[in-house]
Amino acid sequence: MTTLFDPIQAGRLHLSNRIAMAPLTRNRAPDAIPTPLMAQYYAQRASAGLLITEATAISPQAQGYSDVPGLYSTEQLDGWKKVTHAVHAADGQIVVQLWHVGRVSHTSLQPEHQAPVAPSALRAHTKTVLIQDGVPTFVDTSMPRALDAAELPGIVQDYRHAARNAIACGFDGVEIHAANGYLLEQFLKTGANQRTDDYGGNLKNRTRLLLEVVRAITDEIGPDRTAIRLSPVTPANDITDDHPQQIFDYLMHQLAPLGLAYLHIVEGATGGARELPDQPFDYAQLKAVYRTAGGQGAWMVNNAYDKAMAEQALAAGADIVAFGRPYIANPDLVERLQRNAPLNTPDRATFYGGGAEGYTDYPTLDA
Ligand SMILES: Cc1cc2nc3c(=O)[nH]c(=O)nc-3n(C[C@H](O)[C@H](O)[C@H](O)COP(=O)(O)O)c2cc1C
Repeated sequence: MTTLFDPIQAGRLHLSNRIAMAPLTRNRAPDAIPTPLMAQYYAQRASAGLLITEATAISPQAQGYSDVPGLYSTEQLDGWKKVTHAVHAADGQIVVQLWHVGRVSHTSLQPEHQAPVAPSALRAHTKTVLIQDGVPTFVDTSMPRALDAAELPGIVQDYRHAARNAIACGFDGVEIHAANGYLLEQFLKTGANQRTDDYGGNLKNRTRLLLEVVRAITDEIGPDRTAIRLSPVTPANDITDDHPQQIFDYLMHQLAPLGLAYLHIVEGATGGARELPDQPFDYAQLKAVYRTAGGQGAWMVNNAYDKAMAEQALAAGADIVAFGRPYIANPDLVERLQRNAPLNTPDRATFYGGGAEGYTDYPTLDA
C-alpha cells in the first residue's frame, strides 16, 4: 500500500514523499521583494516532498494585498534566488504559485491607484489586507473595471514572463493559481463573469483565458514543470458558479492532453467545510474524467487533511496531499506525521504580516 512517505514522480518533479506544503500568503515581503527571512522559512520546511510558495504576483496590476511578493522586477528575482538556493541546499523542491488577483484588490495597491481589473464590473464582497504601520487591517476590495478583450493578451504575456522568471530564479516549476476567487477563476465562474464576448458565456469561452495562460506557460517552460490549482466550489472571495461540475469536468477534458505535472484540487470551501450542502461536487468523477481523457498529471488534494484522512485519500487514488495551516506551525511536518507526533498549533494573529515571530520560530520536534 502506498504511504505518504513514498516518493512520486510528478512530471519533471521528483518528490521524495507525497506531502506538499500548500501555498500560504504571509505578507512578509515589503515592497513585494522576497527577504532572507523568507528563504529561512522555506528552507526550514524543505523536507516536504514539494514546497509551493505563497501566491506571487505576475505584474503590478496582479497585486491585491500589502507586502506579498512579485516575480517581475530584478530585485524580486534576486530575492527569490536566495529562496530557491536555500531550499535546494536543504534538498527540497519548490514551485512558485503564479497569481493575478483580478478584482480582489484595492486601488491603493494598483498602479497609479487605478481600479482593479476583472472580467466584469462586479464588485467582490470580500476583504483584502492592507498593512498600515506594521498592523494588518482588513479592508473592502475596490470596485473593479471590466477588462477590454484587447488587454487579455498582455495578461497572458505577463504569466509567460513570470514563468520564464521563475525558471531563471531556480524554481523547479510553477503552479498557476486558478483558485480561490482570483482572476482566472473569476473568468471561469458565472458569478463573476457576465461577458458577452469570446471570454464569457459558454464553457469554451469561460475557460478560454485560463487555457491560454496554461498554453503560454507550457510553451515557455514545458508542461512537465507546470501545474494548476483549482477550487471547484469554494466560496472564497465571493465567487460562485451555477454549474461547477459541468465547467470543471469540461476543463478536465481540455487539460488532460496538455501534460501538466500535477493538478491541485481544493476540496470544499478553502480553509472551511469540505462538504457544502448547497454545492455538491463529485471529486472522484472529476478525477475520472481527467484520467479517462488521458490526463497523467499527479492528483494533489487539499483542505483540512490530517494524517488519517490523507492516507484514506491515497488509498482512494490521490497521489499527493497538500497541507496548509499545519505547515505554518510545523516546519518538520513530514517527520511529525512519520512519528505520529503531536502538532504545534498555528497562531492566527501572526498569519499575515510581521517578522520572525509566528513565522520562523515554531519549534521542531528535536528542538
Ligand atoms: C494564512 C493563509 C494563507 C493562504 N494563502 C494562500 C495562497 O497564497 N494561495 C492559495 O492558493 N491558497 C492560500 N491559502 C489556502 C491554503 O493553501 C489551503 O488551501 C487552506 O489553508 C486549506 O488547507 P489546510 O486545511 O491544510 O490549511 C492560504 C491559507 C491560509 C491559512
